Amino acid sequence: MIDLLLRNAVLPRSTAPVDLGVDGGVLVEAAGQEARETIDLGGRLVTPPLVEPHIHLDAVLTVGQPRPNVSGSLFEGIAVWAERVRDLTVGDVQARVRKVLRWQLANGVQSVRSHVDVCDPELTALRALVELREEVRGIVDLQLVAFPQQGILGFPDGRKLMEKACDLGADVVGGIPHYELTREDGVASVQFLMSLAADRGLLVDVHCDETDDDHSRFVEVMAAETIRRGMAGRVTASHTTAMHSYNAAYAYRLINNLARSGMHFVTNPLDNSVLQGRFDQGPVRRGHTRVKQLQEAGLTVCIGHDSVMDPWYPLGYGDPLQAAFVLAHFAHMSGADELPRLIDMITVEPARTLALPENRLRPGDPADLVVFDAPTDVDALRLVARRTLVMRGGRVLARSEPARTTVTWDGAEEEVTFLR
Ligand code: FE2
Repeated sequence: MIDLLLRNAVLPRSTAPVDLGVDGGVLVEAAGQEARETIDLGGRLVTPPLVEPHIHLDAVLTVGQPRPNVSGSLFEGIAVWAERVRDLTVGDVQARVRKVLRWQLANGVQSVRSHVDVCDPELTALRALVELREEVRGIVDLQLVAFPQQGILGFPDGRKLMEKACDLGADVVGGIPHYELTREDGVASVQFLMSLAADRGLLVDVHCDETDDDHSRFVEVMAAETIRRGMAGRVTASHTTAMHSYNAAYAYRLINNLARSGMHFVTNPLDNSVLQGRFDQGPVRRGHTRVKQLQEAGLTVCIGHDSVMDPWYPLGYGDPLQAAFVLAHFAHMSGADELPRLIDMITVEPARTLALPENRLRPGDPADLVVFDAPTDVDALRLVARRTLVMRGGRVLARSEPARTTVTWDGAEEEVTFLR
């Protein structure tokens, strides 16, 4: 007798329902098993947990504070945040983050990597999030990145603050080389942060080349440092939007070196679709990295949400599926094999990026899973379908009631499911 039988689950890249067994918090063979409890999933899509590889939790829910970003631009966003950050307290950060972590969990997210601004002598946001990381342990795995929003070399005591952030418990070393005062400072900042991560045994995730300037080429420095230090699999470059403006000859050489480095990539379609291309009069560039070329080179590219209702992005509710839906359009990923790949890019690929154990919903994997109100992976994406059930270690952590819609047609009320 096992604990739980989940009947009629449809796995990604499939349409045929299967049964999943759960015992002792772990997935087991379901065939021929009796269970203490049975849940019929009704032919709905089941995936491993969603993983959020890139969000700025310290800034969530601050949109409009202390004033709105009227233009919607990156630069006005930075100016607004510089005003808001003066009032930051531990209580303020924790109250906002607790709310958004619940939204994320309801969307099926069980692991989150958050960048945290450490350009603050008090490190208030980091202290708040280090406490919260303990509070939510066992529900959401939180990784914290020491993120120098205003630069490492270009901010007073920037190097010391990065070291202090690691002492306080940051899991990942961040950076922003394209924002340093000079190109040389950008290179030196990458060398500094890679050395810091190597010395402390930490991971790396750098905001790299988040600009439309095709001369911003710090990702090549990250690749060189990753190769020389033997840090394959432990280093992530986020955004890298300048890459799509590089000339083809340079991009060819770069992508060969990136493949050699074993780095991972995070693209952030929600923020970058509205923040990039702001200086273009037409044609306006899309502002995304070279997702398909990186994937063709065998590299891991995953999708981040980046912002939820902050000075840079006023929309969102913490759902990676919404970001995947947007990337389907901006990265031309509407091909038959590309749509299911978008689901990998919010589940197993970010798990690899965060160096988490792989969960493929096989016997022996933890019973951590997400049920979508859709019959297939493509339908889930098309409908940005709700998550009806979120389970961790065989326990239900979130549930949503499926929506029911009717139309009245020729005097009769009938149900509409949006399914063929
Ligand atoms: Fe970011």
